[in-house]
Amino acid sequence: MADEAPPLAAQRLVERVTEFTEEDLHSLCEATSAAIIDGGGFGWVNPPGIMALETYFRGVLLVPERELFIARLDGLVVGSAHLVRPPRNNEAQGHAAQLMHAYIAPYARGHGLARMLTIAVEDRARELGYHVLNLDVRETQEAAIRLYETLGFERWGVHPDYAFVRGQAVRGFFYSKRLRRPGTRRAQNGA
Ligand SMILES: CC(C)(COP(=O)(O)OP(=O)(O)OC[C@H]1O[C@@H](n2cnc3c(N)ncnc32)[C@H](O)[C@@H]1OP(=O)(O)O)[C@@H](O)C(=O)NCCC(=O)NCCS
Repeated sequence: MADEAPPLAAQRLVERVTEFTEEDLHSLCEATSAAIIDGGGFGWVNPPGIMALETYFRGVLLVPERELFIARLDGLVVGSAHLVRPPRNNEAQGHAAQLMHAYIAPYARGHGLARMLTIAVEDRARELGYHVLNLDVRETQEAAIRLYETLGFERWGVHPDYAFVRGQAVRGFFYSKRLRRPGTRRAQNGA
């Protein structure tokens, strides 16, 4: 019998986006919908529909304090995450950025993309000069909790009524990671 060719490793890519092709926007919205249906974890409980998601993601690109990162598997957009910078009026917390709304569509999980996405956001926050990266998760997001803890995020708080999902209160865990020592160059809100 002829030797079978070994399966090709899926091609993985994480990048920051500042504009969308129609195709990418569509696959991003499909991925988001699939992740929401699977259990969400980034605000929506029910998928709002592809048109509403397209409007939402076009809006995200217009928000000055937000940067959008996408994950691709074999070229297809399968997940995303936001890096959120503090507003300019929040001088006291000008050292801390936030990682939000991170997910990978169920059909693309287990390829290491969430790890790549988190590291890309972290690297960008560090590059922008932030000292700290904050994030929060529902207690039910076990995979995310494991991911963030293995990447060195420290849990510093628990919110008992963090979210309400189908009438049930769900606790939330708050995490923080120090990106650079205090006293080193401070972020100038992305400048
Ligand atoms: C959490 C999530 C983003 C992980 O996506 P993923 O691309 O499958 O994750 P990766 O393949 O990069 O795995 C990275 C690490 O996550 C953890 N992890 C991933 N899937 C896991 C699972 N099913 N159970 C436990 N840990 C898991 C592991 O620590 C893993 O590292 P390892 O492979 O070295 O053990 C994905 O499950 C998801 O979108 N969940 C719903 C939304 C969510 O929780 N978002 C985060 C907070 S808003």
